[in-house]
Amino acid sequence: MNTHITIFDTTLRDGEQAPGCSMNLQEKIEVARRLESMGVDVIEAGFPVSSPGDFESVKTIAGLVKNSCVAALARCRDADIDAAGAALAGCAHPRIHIFLATSPIHMEYKLKMTPEQVLAQAVASVKRAKRFCEDVEFSAEDAFRSDPDFVCRVFGEAIAAGALTVNFPDTVGYALPAEFAERIRYVREHTPLMAKARLSVHCHNDLGLAVANSLAAIAAGAEQAECTINGLGERAGNASLEEIVMALRVRRDILHADTRIDTTQIYAASRLVSKVTGVKVQPNKAIVGDNAFAHEAGIHQHGVLANPATYEIMTPESVGVPKNAASSMVLGKHSGKHALEERLKELGLVVGADTLERVFADFKVLADKKKTISDRDLEALVMGVTVAAPETWTLEHWAVNTGSALGASGTVRLRHKDGAVRKEVAMGDGPIDSIFRAINTITGKEPELELYELGAITGGSTAQGETTVKIHWNDRRYNGRGVSTDIIESSIKAYIAALNALEWETAAKGAAKDGAT
Ligand code: KIV
Ligand code: ZN
Repeated sequence: MNTHITIFDTTLRDGEQAPGCSMNLQEKIEVARRLESMGVDVIEAGFPVSSPGDFESVKTIAGLVKNSCVAALARCRDADIDAAGAALAGCAHPRIHIFLATSPIHMEYKLKMTPEQVLAQAVASVKRAKRFCEDVEFSAEDAFRSDPDFVCRVFGEAIAAGALTVNFPDTVGYALPAEFAERIRYVREHTPLMAKARLSVHCHNDLGLAVANSLAAIAAGAEQAECTINGLGERAGNASLEEIVMALRVRRDILHADTRIDTTQIYAASRLVSKVTGVKVQPNKAIVGDNAFAHEAGIHQHGVLANPATYEIMTPESVGVPKNAASSMVLGKHSGKHALEERLKELGLVVGADTLERVFADFKVLADKKKTISDRDLEALVMGVTVAAPETWTLEHWAVNTGSALGASGTVRLRHKDGAVRKEVAMGDGPIDSIFRAINTITGKEPELELYELGAITGGSTAQGETTVKIHWNDRRYNGRGVSTDIIESSIKAYIAALNALEWETAAKGAAKDGAT
């Protein structure tokens, strides 16, 4: 009989707080929906006290998700706990996740607290969190570098105060698998009341050992693993969900543990998170990298053709890697809605009727420009419809004049959602710079452009250009993606999408403030 391992996903919290990984509300909602649909037990949706935007996203996700538990993070401070409790009001399965450091270095230099004060604050905070919900998790930050007996004492008191999960993080990714397993065994055996709570681990990847440490801990009795899609997270990231889940599934024979994750949704989840954060997955990444199931060497190809198990320890289908487009239907301008829907399903992109209508309309426009539509094109079309913020500004028309001798001049015409149409011309250092300047004049915003990245979705001269931009405005970051067969147009669309995300969040904040007064 396999032990059930609780999968606690923190892509929307630890993942999102990593540099360059911010997501807007719509993007977070799409990720949360995917996590719920694939069977993640606990979705950590954010850190409500950290910003009004985080509060709103936890509140929204808490209201939408019905089949997974939704967790909100809080320090052991009253204001944090109250914000987490308020954000989770109305949630079907709420959890407050509180944390306090227990290592000598954190207690002395960061918290400036004695161990006894830490213990008292942990207990008081668990009790306060219990006023809001039954399900409270306590994390001893930097537990691995803490005195093991002190952690056991704090865990024991936290459980006595009502914590149902105690989490043992390797916050700085310092542990080695054998010693981490040893420590988990020790904590299990020496924590008073341990039988009344679940023991969890949360491993960072500074030495590239986050997954190995999580698995070692599971073998030593941990029952919850905290992880993120694609291993996103602070610094070198967290343990990757897809690697933990597939290691447990493929090596059930040894680990005697499993999860309730629908592994066929793993690939779609990875693509979604990569798209919305703009953080690419390295090609040789285990499970979800482009090369994870590619066989280049002739001898390998021969073996796989004779019997896939010669070189594959799991099938691509088991993690939802779509069958090669060449072996299935080719989509083009004569394809109907049904064929499109079928291919989307094969790609793990199950969409509702409304979304299908909109994707089909965009598909027809693209099919007029391109002979065949690839899987990556389809992914981009779906993403364009599902994760883009509502349009405050829509692109109507653009033109650029550029050359080697003169600078560039760009003209752009945008339509505001209230119907007004505005046109501007600007000079710049190149076509993109000139057009972005013209857009800034129209929108009245001059954000800092932190990232501009251009790639081709597929090869060939009719390939679609895909642009990702990240802009920085008033201490917030906004992402935008644009796709077009013309790279200047894809850049403009990406920039406008980021500005629309900014406008949407500003409007939502304004509405929240009005509602509060
Ligand atoms: O790494 C860490 O210790 C954390 C805690 C908040 C669990 O992210
Ligand atoms: Zn962490």
